Amino acid sequence: MPLTLRRSDLLLSANPIAGQWCGAAGGRRFDVTDPASGAVIARVPDGGLVDAIAAVDAAHAAFPAWRATPAKQRAQILKRWNDLILAHQDDLGRLISREQGKPLAEGRGEVAYAASYVEWFAEEATRAYGDVIPAPVAGRRMLAVREPVGVIAAITPWNFPAAMIARKIAPALAAGCTVVAKPAEDTPLTSLALARLAEEAGVPAGVLNLVTASRERAAEVVDVWLADARVRKLTFTGSTPVGRHLARASADTLKKLSLELGGNAPFIVFEDADLDAAVAGLMVSKFRNGGQTCVCPNRIYVHEAVHDAFVDKLCAQVAALQVGPASDPASQIGPMINARAVEKIERHVRDALARGARIATGGARLPQLGGNYFQPTVLTDVTAGMECACEETFGPVAPVTRFSDEAAVVAEANGTPYGLASYFYTRDARRIWRVAEALESGLVGINEGALAAEAAPFGGIKASGYGREGSRYGLEEYMHIKYLCQGGLD
Ligand code: SIN
Repeated sequence: MPLTLRRSDLLLSANPIAGQWCGAAGGRRFDVTDPASGAVIARVPDGGLVDAIAAVDAAHAAFPAWRATPAKQRAQILKRWNDLILAHQDDLGRLISREQGKPLAEGRGEVAYAASYVEWFAEEATRAYGDVIPAPVAGRRMLAVREPVGVIAAITPWNFPAAMIARKIAPALAAGCTVVAKPAEDTPLTSLALARLAEEAGVPAGVLNLVTASRERAAEVVDVWLADARVRKLTFTGSTPVGRHLARASADTLKKLSLELGGNAPFIVFEDADLDAAVAGLMVSKFRNGGQTCVCPNRIYVHEAVHDAFVDKLCAQVAALQVGPASDPASQIGPMINARAVEKIERHVRDALARGARIATGGARLPQLGGNYFQPTVLTDVTAGMECACEETFGPVAPVTRFSDEAAVVAEANGTPYGLASYFYTRDARRIWRVAEALESGLVGINEGALAAEAAPFGGIKASGYGREGSRYGLEEYMHIKYLCQGGLD
């Protein structure tokens, strides 16, 4: 089915660098495909070293004027960007769904989610306050002021093609930074459309520069930015191994870093939980985007007293999920992003079954729909050593483990190198505080499965990285503090 947009010029095949829409140096291009069918949707520039340098040159040249632009004016531009994103919600939703695979309703929802970060940081731009510090000696005035860090590099993932880039770029622009960004090779089209709307909103030439690159050439672009001392900050969402590499490679130029990395979220259902609420929370958090989010529950612990009732309720809802292409309005779960993703899900299910887990529902591919579909699945009798309990599955598989003791389940929930999100359901107020404080993660959902919001700090601890996105803390990531001391005033 052809991709039709109300504004066909939002389907872009050029990169915005220094205010020009350009092809890659050397003219190379790569295909962007629809994960539902494998069909080519567009061909975009396959950027490399020359393009990466040009992007930094542009961002560096644009920085002095952008940082000097009054915060209120930057805020007005961001507000216009927010308005334009919402005005084109349908087209952007279609682009997201087509290149990423999520159902259209979710694609549109993601656009609103992305815009909420732009609106939030438009408002925060005017509130980057400093402090007046009481001087310890006479005749001095002491201040701490916030300044933009400079050029920032953003490397964004494919699972939320609009929201992840918005929640990096919006605070950067609000703070007065200029940007070079590389969207994921699977989903560059949404970012290009967002950049076009940013331009229409009044973001000046060179302030926001994008370099698209294929999987093969991505490292060439990123290596340039890592080595360039003019890039003062790197923000990345993706896997922990890549995050570690970026942290090591940023050491020579001592960049400020925000790393939103892998998760392995536990979801604990205590014996006193409202089971219907817990199932509803799990459905939202586990099956959003087909299970392809960093905060998806990956290990579900259910108290033995309610285990069977919970699994029955869960399976009834999981088995009813409609799987199909984004283009079908009835679809609730789309295709996985690519063949590698489906292979990993299949490997996890195979490993779990070989080690004693059982399939309560689902458990197989759906070849009649296409190569990248997997049935929404519930596994039971899952144990700690299984691959699905140790690694993020990133797919629609809910692995359930039975438990009997609070302290033991909290220890097991924390028994992972990761610490992004955790969830638990209970009605006991004392337990709420005990467990919330004991869980080792940056986000904790208490009787709630949908955590993320523009006003909330999003980010992990341990191997899930550091730095926060969204909220008032999200702006600080793009600023440094300068101390001003004036003497001789007595
Ligand atoms: C992610 O998967 O990294 C982001 C999920 C979210 O914003 O809720």
